[in-house]
Amino acid sequence: MSSYTADKKVFMKTFGCQMNVYDSERMGEALAADGYVETSEVEEADLVILNTCHIREKAAEKVYSDLGRIRDVRDARRRAGKDTLVTVAGCVAQAEGAEISRRAPVVDLVVGPQSYHRLPDLLKKRSATGERIVETAFPEEEKFAHLAPARQVRSATAFLTIQEGCDKFCTFCVVPYTRGMEYSRSVADLEKEARALVGKGVRELTLLGQNVNAYHGALRDGSEATLSGLISHLARIDGLERIRYTTSHPRNMSDDLIAAHAEEPKLMPYLHLPVQSGSDRILAAMNRKHTAEEYLRVVERIRAVRPDIALSTDMIVGFPGETEADFEATMDLVKAVGFAQSFSFKYSPRPGTPAANMDDQVPEAVKSERLARLQYLLTDQQERFNALTVGRTVPVLFERRARNNRYLVGRSPYLQLVQVEGDSALLGRTLPVDIQGHGPGSLSGVIAGH
Ligand code: SAH
Ligand code: SF4
Ligand code: F3S
Repeated sequence: MSSYTADKKVFMKTFGCQMNVYDSERMGEALAADGYVETSEVEEADLVILNTCHIREKAAEKVYSDLGRIRDVRDARRRAGKDTLVTVAGCVAQAEGAEISRRAPVVDLVVGPQSYHRLPDLLKKRSATGERIVETAFPEEEKFAHLAPARQVRSATAFLTIQEGCDKFCTFCVVPYTRGMEYSRSVADLEKEARALVGKGVRELTLLGQNVNAYHGALRDGSEATLSGLISHLARIDGLERIRYTTSHPRNMSDDLIAAHAEEPKLMPYLHLPVQSGSDRILAAMNRKHTAEEYLRVVERIRAVRPDIALSTDMIVGFPGETEADFEATMDLVKAVGFAQSFSFKYSPRPGTPAANMDDQVPEAVKSERLARLQYLLTDQQERFNALTVGRTVPVLFERRARNNRYLVGRSPYLQLVQVEGDSALLGRTLPVDIQGHGPGSLSGVIAGH
């Protein structure tokens, strides 16, 4: 490491999905290999990276308000004789490209999700030439092969991106445009990364992909593995205790994946399966390629093999043309399933997606009112699910201390947050916890036998 770069500091802020969290970690590792250390204080950063999300208008606009504040920090540092490089990465970078530095001239570098391995080189180029750089190509060479091999481990749980991109083109969604075509990493590559993580203390892996259950990665013999094949491969790694995956599409819940929930003890009883709407008319307009009934059949199949599974979903209210009857169909579907967790949103028109140009956009006030009704129901379901755990003893993998430092925080197999009083020496261990209480978002209890 040269003394020139040894004391450079990078501040990173991550928006959006878990894939961005994974990408930020990988960027941090690539930069660490180049002499950067991370800081949580933006004022002391030589390099600021915003890893952005374009999924809804609010998420994208937040980036510009942050850039305003960062400009003030940069100006103050400049007065003190210090340089600051400002980078916008992620899905806003991919979607808006050069438009970002036009709107926010403080931005030095715009880099899309497929080019992170080039980040150290691009930063050097920027420093050497003083020119603004926009790098949003989908290069042929593959980013995973070029990212720094040394993974840093912060907790007993880690994300592992196994697949990127999406070819499904739901009419509301920007992901196929910001992340490109579907691509699955090879089993050998993933096994290597998983083993390295487990070797450094990771006990739970969450396999990530925008369409994770469409995974079809190459095996050494040239054939392809499905997601269940990859899971059984990774389950053989000693020391790895838990496997999860997200996000799945209802159309790709194959029999072998459902069977894995019955057969693979390391696969946790939790499934995030976005449905978006309960109205067939709206599902068709969304190009989801499944009906409400087909979704309910998938739920039935998975509950037949794993009755205790915690189901989670994403919902959109106020998609163009959604009537009160369509919305009632959504409420009916939610009542029929009973979700343990959920994420629900008002439809947000995204530039370049087909739904943004559809007639019958739903007024904001109607969207807000429907979202409130839906969230009331979903929150109630979540509370009921959590209440059912009270009185049971469940294994909890402890991940971190709570911010107030008093509690240890971990997850149940059903992904519920569990807080107990305990010693930090228990971090990274899975212990039985007697669950005694529940709040809206978490459970509390005591370690069994203590
Ligand atoms: N790949 C996943 C998730 C994609 S984005 C999937 O296929 O389900 C995460 C969630 O954001 C989506 O499930 C959807 O509920 C929501 N979302 C996507 N585009 C949106 C939009 N234009 N307006 C509101 N919510 C949106
Ligand atoms: Fe977006 Fe649909 Fe692809 Fe999910 S399946 S990422 S919602 S286009
Ligand atoms: Fe957002 Fe991109 Fe993820 S748009 S949800 S950060 S794939």
